[in-house]
Amino acid sequence: MLFNPYFADLSNVYLFAEAENRLRAFLARTKPNNVIKMGIGDVTQPLCAAAVEAGKTAVEEMGKAESFRGYGPYRGYPFLIKSIAAYYKSRGISLDEDEIFISDGSKSDVAGFTDLFAKDNTVLLQDPVYPVYADANILHGRKIVYASATMENGFLPLPDERVKADIIYLCSPNNPTGAVYSAADLEQWVAYAKSMGAVILFDAAYEAFVTEDKKVRSIYEVRGADEVAVEFCSFSKTAGFTGVRCGYTVVPKKLANLNALWFRRQSAKSNGVSYVTQRMAEAALTNEGQKQTAAAREVYRKNAQVILQALRKTGVFHTGGVNAPYIWFKCGGSSWDFFDRLLNEVQVVGTPGVGFGRNGEGFFRLTAFNTYKNTVEAMRRIQSVLRA
Ligand code: MLT
Repeated sequence: MLFNPYFADLSNVYLFAEAENRLRAFLARTKPNNVIKMGIGDVTQPLCAAAVEAGKTAVEEMGKAESFRGYGPYRGYPFLIKSIAAYYKSRGISLDEDEIFISDGSKSDVAGFTDLFAKDNTVLLQDPVYPVYADANILHGRKIVYASATMENGFLPLPDERVKADIIYLCSPNNPTGAVYSAADLEQWVAYAKSMGAVILFDAAYEAFVTEDKKVRSIYEVRGADEVAVEFCSFSKTAGFTGVRCGYTVVPKKLANLNALWFRRQSAKSNGVSYVTQRMAEAALTNEGQKQTAAAREVYRKNAQVILQALRKTGVFHTGGVNAPYIWFKCGGSSWDFFDRLLNEVQVVGTPGVGFGRNGEGFFRLTAFNTYKNTVEAMRRIQSVLRA
């Protein structure tokens, strides 16, 4: 038996697992009861009432012989696919229903999509960015090149024709910086992908947090994007489904034969998401459900304001938080040292910027996903460290 040799090229521990390990060691040592978590982007608001009711009804259905269901369709149930198509339609984007695939979340799909491509492809990633894109491609042994996201370019790198790439990952609103591309920016990426014969894998998991009109929520707002781009989205942050698990991926039929390949891959490797979950997701997309999930996101938006106001007072460079649930600020020095310092001195957990890429060193990410009370308290403590 031989192991996949590319494991040797991964960092030893996944970013959020390492943060968890350090927290666990700290708790074992000191047993404090006042740790505030603003690290991994995990939601705190309960599920919306519409999803809860739909879940109850679906469980009841599963408990009766006449309405029981076994394996669902490989693409997902038509009722949820129709709701997602309508959600896009409400934003002016027309999709065919067989272009939408339901899954247990974007993380699985952005990683699993790499199965469709040969090893000999060059992958272009923003740096810093969500670490799963790199890890998934490292495991296939692919070459990775980076587009630097820096303070100078507003953390929104644009394509450089001199850099050759076959698979381009873009995350907007960006995890971790919160930066959001405009349509004009994405037009450049679409043109670049066309000129390279490349595919764009567009992670739109945070689209529902966009508040500024000129910022893009779907890459399909850009003309011609359906010839080059796949889009990943999720109910995790939009509807509080981090513990429920449901997401979807749009694979346009114009895009080579990726739609057929993804269907083949999904039917080979997955039996999809439970009926109950898909009914809950459908409910979250009804008019009532959307109003309710918007109210939960409003709590996070207010938290982001609290974080931004506190950072403004300290004078440290900070960004994000307006169109995204993440706030990115300059901590200086080693970001893991800053992580340890926050944990040990004031019992707040964040995420070190270097975990998202080399350019993230010296930066730190906070999430707006805790409660309002905890966010206010955490920022009081963080301010004391930043001022010290
Ligand atoms: C994050 O904190 O970056 C996200 O919650 C991770 C994820 O969605 O997998």
